Amino acid sequence: MDKLLIEGGTALTGEAIISGAKNAALPLLCAALLTREPLTLTNVPALHDIATMLKLLAQMGVKIEKVGSGSTAETITLDASGLHNPVAPYELVKTMRASVLVLGPLAARCGEARVSLPGGCAIGARPVDQHIKGLNAMGAETAVEQGYVQVRASRLKGARLFTDMVTVTGTENLMMAACLADGETVIENAAREPEVVDLANCLVAMGARISGAGTDVIRIRGVGRLSGTTHRIMPDRIETGTYLCAAAATGGDIRLTRTSACYLDAVIDKLMDAGCEITVERDAIRLKAPARLNAVSLRTSPYPAFPTDMQAQFMAINTLAEGTAVIRETIFENRFMHAVELIRLGADIRIDGNTAIVRGVPALQGATVMATDLRASASLVIAGLAARGETLIERIYHLDRGYEHIETKLAALGARVKRVK
Ligand code: EPZ
Repeated sequence: MDKLLIEGGTALTGEAIISGAKNAALPLLCAALLTREPLTLTNVPALHDIATMLKLLAQMGVKIEKVGSGSTAETITLDASGLHNPVAPYELVKTMRASVLVLGPLAARCGEARVSLPGGCAIGARPVDQHIKGLNAMGAETAVEQGYVQVRASRLKGARLFTDMVTVTGTENLMMAACLADGETVIENAAREPEVVDLANCLVAMGARISGAGTDVIRIRGVGRLSGTTHRIMPDRIETGTYLCAAAATGGDIRLTRTSACYLDAVIDKLMDAGCEITVERDAIRLKAPARLNAVSLRTSPYPAFPTDMQAQFMAINTLAEGTAVIRETIFENRFMHAVELIRLGADIRIDGNTAIVRGVPALQGATVMATDLRASASLVIAGLAARGETLIERIYHLDRGYEHIETKLAALGARVKRVK
């Protein structure tokens, strides 16, 4: 298993290019299932989760062609005209819960689907009951047996759907299913995340009739079929926020390009409260950190509020800040596992249910720590970059799921980091 060895203490400076968004790319890859014509996606990030999704689609009969590779952003063309196996097997789904995003498209395109339940993951139980509830409301027969969700639907019917809580992939699954349903579907309490909007924009380019994406009520008027299109994946706002936090924690001065600040208002607000100077350009963001950050309290909530996927990174920067921060995680029930690892580096953190109290300390000392999930790993990288001495992060396959070439990008910003076997 790979590890990341970090020699802390250098301020990050210079420029980095932000990759395409993992959480936009994953549903967009599944959108290919909705049509017999080729769907081309550009700015596809080279991530482990993307490779897993491509494997999942290929075993269903989707033809996949990759153009370009290496550090340049990838272009992928998917052709689902030969789709013959509407099954998502456990051995693939258990490694990536976003596999559940094939459920809606398969139900709409094939009238049947057999998708393994994702099972829990480190950060929580992660049920998919809302995805199933929505498909039932659209006339699908669903059953959960032997750990699989079985769906049958001659043709889905438009319906009024209301999700019990805001669910990002739930909204995406039901929006994709509704594109080919008979009649109009209204999704109330819909997720407003930018990745939902990026997916809707691509679906509309494919001929879908969608309005309201980005608000909490999305209307979809079903059509008979969708065509192909070419769509550029939006920049990764969480990767952007992660590098901004790395610069903030190390007293750095960096400029991130091919990204946009417009999806990060809540995060940029907090970084400015922490004392950072932020300059926003059309497709770039610059951050200049103070010598020492002020502690910033936060509470995670659905978009446009502070994203749960940035909570771990902000816990890391608060460990060295002036003052005490109160962090409340309201989305997932177990998303503080990075805290015990940060404490190994000398952080002063107390957990009380879904609240973490982080008291800033003058310095962190490098140590060996273990990554537990994607964003927890990112918080350990940030802390390691700011700590004195060497930090060795184990199980960094978690990082590779969501951060393209992370050690290359960090090294280009002046970090002393290397991957060791
Ligand atoms: C998406 O996960 C993201 N993943 C997550 O990013 C992100 O943390 C999350 O949204 C919240 O923003 C992708 O987009 C691929 P949810 P998702 O459904 O859709 C509960 C990362 O780090 N819920 O919005 O699975 C659920 O348990 C990943 O890139 C149900 O109870 O999250 C959670 O408490 C991690 N039943 C809350 O809702 C359901 O049917 C929000 O989950 C669905 C969700």
